[in-house]
Amino acid sequence: MSIKNFYEILKTSEFKDIEVADIINDELTRQRSTLCLIPSENYISREVAIALSSPLNNKYSEGYPHKWKENTVISQNGKYYQGQKNAIAIEELAMKRGLELFTQNPDLYHINVQSLSGAPANLAVLNAFLNKGDTFMGLALDFGGHLTHGHKVNITSKYYNAVQYSLNNNGELDFDEIEKLALLHKPKLIFCGATAYPLKIDFSKFSEIAKKVGAILAADISHICGLCIANEHPHPFPYADVITTTTHKILRGPRAGIIISKKEYGQQIDKSIFPGIQGGPHMSAIAAMAVAFKEAMQPEYRDYIKQVIKNAKVLSEELQKLGFNIVSKRTENHLILLDVVNNGHLSVENGSWLAERLELAGIITNKNTIPGDKKPWIPSGIRIGTPAATTLGMKEDEMKLIANLIKKATENSHSDDTLKNISLEIKTLLNLFIEKNNNLLI
Ligand SMILES: Cc1ncc(COP(=O)(O)O)c(C=O)c1O
Repeated sequence: MSIKNFYEILKTSEFKDIEVADIINDELTRQRSTLCLIPSENYISREVAIALSSPLNNKYSEGYPHKWKENTVISQNGKYYQGQKNAIAIEELAMKRGLELFTQNPDLYHINVQSLSGAPANLAVLNAFLNKGDTFMGLALDFGGHLTHGHKVNITSKYYNAVQYSLNNNGELDFDEIEKLALLHKPKLIFCGATAYPLKIDFSKFSEIAKKVGAILAADISHICGLCIANEHPHPFPYADVITTTTHKILRGPRAGIIISKKEYGQQIDKSIFPGIQGGPHMSAIAAMAVAFKEAMQPEYRDYIKQVIKNAKVLSEELQKLGFNIVSKRTENHLILLDVVNNGHLSVENGSWLAERLELAGIITNKNTIPGDKKPWIPSGIRIGTPAATTLGMKEDEMKLIANLIKKATENSHSDDTLKNISLEIKTLLNLFIEKNNNLLI
């Protein structure tokens, strides 16, 4: 949606809330004038945005379009309220498209599209397979795992016994350590997947370990789902028993989550989401999800993913040439972790400090822990990714330019003038690309 259209909608006489309109317009200006390098953010299409604000939002639709009998779906309306004709139709459509997108053989799997986001999807998976106090394993946050994979402040470790694994000294998953921990602790479930891991994940190795100890293997592919469906990263199926993913990162859909499991686990996953941890599903988000799934089925989406990876590789190589220290020494997906403290020549206090300075230069990243960080609240790294810039159409040349601007901003981060000049360069670059993207909500 072009800026004009959006301003026009907010300025119409029906939109009387000027305070809200001002904030939304200011956010639009921010998004249009700063470069988003946060790997979990992206721009949605106008079609996704329209579905997201559709009248389906008005409908309460607790329950499922189906019922379960002896672990088998039966085609009976399982909703609790009346008036469900279209709510059921949209949920079934999203389920059908989701299964087609994420599985080779939809008959073998079940999908739940009601999770309100990624964190509740992960909690629902634990709630489906574990009882209070049971043990599960996940990658530690300071090594790139997600909070919901068992971090000490998260409900997943307060309610369950979370055993955390880490990476080896090269920043790679350490399967010997994972196996040792699994044999020692006998987890009921092992989470794999990450929020800040630049390398490919070997799901088959995780599966071997899970099988040895009789654990369920849950793959959280929130960050890499687009790479998996475009065959640019190993797919978690058939190795995983269940996968979770958000739909708003690289998939460019609404803020929501989905859970796909081997069919035999479908009933317990459904029950775990509702009535287990959630109430009414967000039907407009489910409609928007269906739109995003269809977009991701198009050949252009595969081209997009290939470019995301190419861009990340070039950005990572250029930054390395410019003297930056890249965690794991390379990137094999859409993101790069920069160790900005243990870098020799940079005078950077910590990742938070640099992320704030880069924002003044119009470059939006996020502070991040790097393996071995002792103080997660003052991390030594920043995380950057290419999904959003690639959606705008940026390619290798722009990545080289961006690497140079990051270097310039980092070296001169004490000079407000330099940062301001870089932010103007970024704005000019963005203008070129935003103008070409009429179909995006930006
Ligand atoms: C791997 C992973 N899982 C789960 C989540 C949680 O998703 P949400 O923020 O939608 O709850 C994230 C979010 O960053 C993530 O990176």
